[in-house]
Amino acid sequence: MQTVRTSEELTRALAELRASGKLALVPTMGALHAGHLALVEDAKRQADNVVATIFVNPTQFNDPDDLARYPRQEAEDARKLAEAGCDLLWAPAVEDIYPDGFATDVHVLGVSDRWEGAARPGHFDGVATVVARLLLAVRPDVALFGEKDFQQLAVIRQMAADLGIGTEIVGVPTVRDADGLALSSRNALLSPEERRRAVALPNALNAARDSILDGTSVADALREAKQLLVDAGFLRIDYVALVNAATLEPLDAPRGTMRLIAAAVIGTTRLIDNLPVETEAIPPR
Ligand code: PAJ
Repeated sequence: MQTVRTSEELTRALAELRASGKLALVPTMGALHAGHLALVEDAKRQADNVVATIFVNPTQFNDPDDLARYPRQEAEDARKLAEAGCDLLWAPAVEDIYPDGFATDVHVLGVSDRWEGAARPGHFDGVATVVARLLLAVRPDVALFGEKDFQQLAVIRQMAADLGIGTEIVGVPTVRDADGLALSSRNALLSPEERRRAVALPNALNAARDSILDGTSVADALREAKQLLVDAGFLRIDYVALVNAATLEPLDAPRGTMRLIAAAVIGTTRLIDNLPVETEAIPPR
């Protein structure tokens, strides 16, 4: 697997890969775990060649300390990517992506506004701008993103469709630990006791889904889920909501393609998770 930095190096490397078939892109910020590698493995099944990017995008961080603390381990990441079958790693410097004078900001109306968008102002503008930049530089046939960051996936789908980027955006199911906690680089920040209790997050979402499918009102199901989080020691619950899977608008009754989403803080660590809710399984009332 070759590693390139500048746009010129990238263009040269891509010319060869593009000539040999369908191209997939997997954007990441590095510090790779099995969830990221599942994207590469899925990409491998969908395309002939896979390009991964590692770029810790400064414009999507609200807190400068958070950016400074973000783990950087490119050599280890490159080894994992090569093992997973990745063909090319693009690891640009900040100046390669945002040269002096860069002045464009991509803002996706509506779907960016609530939930993570409200908790982290400007975050999705940073994400939409860098993903547009990466997609236009690589021009892949398909790009893969994790359902773990469900609102991010919805923002990217809307952006790519609106701008006519021409890349198919594919969502990949969340990879979880054996107990059900979604893999995340943030899990490393949990104490052993917090890690044990954190499984309440997927458990609460599963319980809410089961209640909704059994005919409990959405309001009651969400209340129960929040109580489970409080009982497990989550100190702050930012949201637990049933939403339209495309627009992220909240739903007070099951309708269409839905998702249960949640964000809550345990200790000092903020975790997010989400689950699909299958409409077909809901009994008529
Ligand atoms: P990062 O947090 O590094 O995640 C890279 C990709 O891995 C994202 O598409 C994310 O949804 C996916 N991912 C993370 N944990 C996962 C899990 N447990 N199962 C499946 N997929 C998982 O998300 C970003 O980077 C950035 O915002 C980025 C899109 C690269 C733009 O800067």
